[in-house]
Order: sequence, then C-alpha cells, then structure tokens
Amino acid sequence: MKDLDEKTIRLIDRLEAEHCLTLEEYRYLVEHESQEAKAYIAPKARRIADQVYGHDIYVRGLIEFSNYCKNNCYYCGIRADNSRCDRYRLTEDVILKCCDDGYDYGYRTFVLQSGEDPYYTDDMLCRIISKIRERHPDCAVTLSIGEKSYESYKRYFEAGAQRYLLRHETADKDHYGKLHPARMSFDHRMNCVRQLREIGYDVGIGMMIGAPMQTSLNLAEDLKFIEQFQPEMCGMGPFIPHDDTPFRDQPAGTLDMTLYLLSIVRLICPHVLLPATTALGTIHPLGREMGVEAGANVVMPNLSPTEVRQKYLLYNNKICTGEESAQCRGCLQARMSGIGYQVVVSRGDVKRPVA
Ligand code: 5AD
Ligand code: FES
Repeated sequence: MKDLDEKTIRLIDRLEAEHCLTLEEYRYLVEHESQEAKAYIAPKARRIADQVYGHDIYVRGLIEFSNYCKNNCYYCGIRADNSRCDRYRLTEDVILKCCDDGYDYGYRTFVLQSGEDPYYTDDMLCRIISKIRERHPDCAVTLSIGEKSYESYKRYFEAGAQRYLLRHETADKDHYGKLHPARMSFDHRMNCVRQLREIGYDVGIGMMIGAPMQTSLNLAEDLKFIEQFQPEMCGMGPFIPHDDTPFRDQPAGTLDMTLYLLSIVRLICPHVLLPATTALGTIHPLGREMGVEAGANVVMPNLSPTEVRQKYLLYNNKICTGEESAQCRGCLQARMSGIGYQVVVSRGDVKRPVA
C-alpha cells in the first residue's frame, strides 16, 4: 500500500474493527478518497458482506406506480413543476398484475414507489397492500411513497407493509435547504424517518452521492447519521442531473466516490441491506456489478409495465426503460452470476446482529 497514507489505513482498519469513527474522521476518509483507498477498503467490505449474506444477492421488484408528485425537489425529474414530464398512474389492477407477474419471475419482495401523489388515498393504498399480502403471503411489501402522517404510516403497516424506504437525502439541515424549496422541511423528513422506525418498519434511508453543493462534511454527517440510526437498508447512488430540473447543469456524482461510500457504509453497518442502485448502473455499464464487489448485496430490477418506464425518469439516461420485466430479472441474474454471486428467490429480510 505504498501510495496510501498511514492515517487512511488506520481509520479504515478501525472502522472495520469498531464500526464507528468520529465525524472528523469520517470527513478525513471522504476527503482522502482515492483509487488506493478504494482498493484497500472494498475487499474488507466485501468480506463482511460475505460473512453476513454470503454470495446471495437479494432482488426487489420495483413498481413505479405513479409519477405525479406534489413536491419540487430541485434534483428530481418528476418534480411538480416539470411540465415536460408525461404523467401516469397505475390502477390497482395493473399494480396487482405486476406483482403476480413478478411472483412468477421469482420476486418475493415488491417495492411500491411513486412521487408524493395525494390521488392515492390511504384507503386505496391499504387495499392494494392487503391484496398483495393476501395473494402472495410469502412476500414482503415495501413502500417508497414519501412523507406521510404518523397515522397513515401506521395504517399501511397494519395493512401489511413491513418496510419503508425514505431516503433522508442529507443529514445537514443547511444542505437540505439547498436541495429543496422552502416549503419542504428537513425536520419533517427526519421526523418521518423516526416515526417509521417507531411504528416497527424496517427502514431504508440514504442519500445521493455528489449531490449539488454536497461537502465532505455533509457526507461525514450522513455517515454519522447512518452509524447512529442503524438503518435496515441504505440506498446510495450517484446524483445524475435531469435536463428539466434546476440542477440540469450540475455535475453528476462519481462512480468511484459511490463505490467508496458503499464500502464505508458496509463497514459501519455489517448487516445493512445495501443496494447497487439503478443510478449506479446508469453512470457505468458495470456499475451494479462493481457495487456488489464494493459491498452491496441487493439489486432492484424494474417491474413496472414497459409502457410507463420512460416516464419515471428521476434523472437523465436511466437504464432499463425499454426492457420487459422478465428481461431485467434475467439480465441481473446473468450479471450477478457473471461475478460469482447468485440472485436468490427469497424475501431477503435483513439479518439482525446477534446481541
Ligand atoms: N439523481 C440521482 N438520484 C435521484 N433521486 C432523485 N433524483 C435523482 C437524481 N437526479 C433519488 C432521491 C430519491 C430517490 C427515489 O431517487 O434520493 O429519494
Ligand atoms: Fe433491466 Fe438489465 S436490469 S435490462
């Protein structure tokens, strides 16, 4: 390790042994991202993932059921003010059909994702959740539908949703304010994350890597938050600009920094479910494979009907928008076995650390 400074080595070694560092130490690691640091940390992260999950890769069938959104996050292609976004909503029947097809392809987890779309009432959502659970009792339902009230979260949980993805986006209040219009609140979002935990969901948080105006301190704060919150899942992908958003001219996050952070998060939380995201697969043709090699253990192929995929564009050049669901499933299976891992037919629950 001739080119890697002593301190980076020492911090990575400590993170591997103790799973925590100080805020300043996280910042140091972020600032000292390099090919050498990545080469040093990735095998450690992969070894830990292997110890917990072996070479099993969990798949989640992602159903993007509505691209209507009442919010206006500056980075996101389906923001309310994007009049060029061609809006759609899937009916209950179509959503259930996606799940039935998905079941046949071997999915045992369905992720229902949408913009924040008040069209779907809690009654409608609960009905959809319970119908999926009735038809496929051996499957988990994950929601990714944004900020809701405590009561709504509670109702979905009682209807049978057991997991919820709500990326915190950034653990820094000032940075949050730079990514979102004033009417969106950092405190509200963080409260939602905590309420989900309190209700009993398996909670997924996360952030974009290389988001506009993100500093090394911001990323260190994210890492500290991840360490303290101990999420069941952590979604991290590179920021990718979308042409019809205020951030259209901002640079994308890098492959290297994303891979490095995946490894760091694996060392912080050995048991966390860590997806190699579609955004990672978008910035590099082998991004998802490299994500797994850096410590990820989940992939989320698209299960949405092919007709609507082109419309659920959070960022430019998103992959898999022309494929059929069966193709995505087969593609990922081939990609994973190509690097020595197997996609498993399983709910893919988080493994809890033995106390
Ligand atoms: N680039 C990358 N990721 C994005 N997301 C939204 N817009 C973008 C973008 N332009 C992420 C956000 C959100 C998740 C569903 O997708 O982190 O929480
Ligand atoms: Fe969709 Fe590869 S995962 S085509």
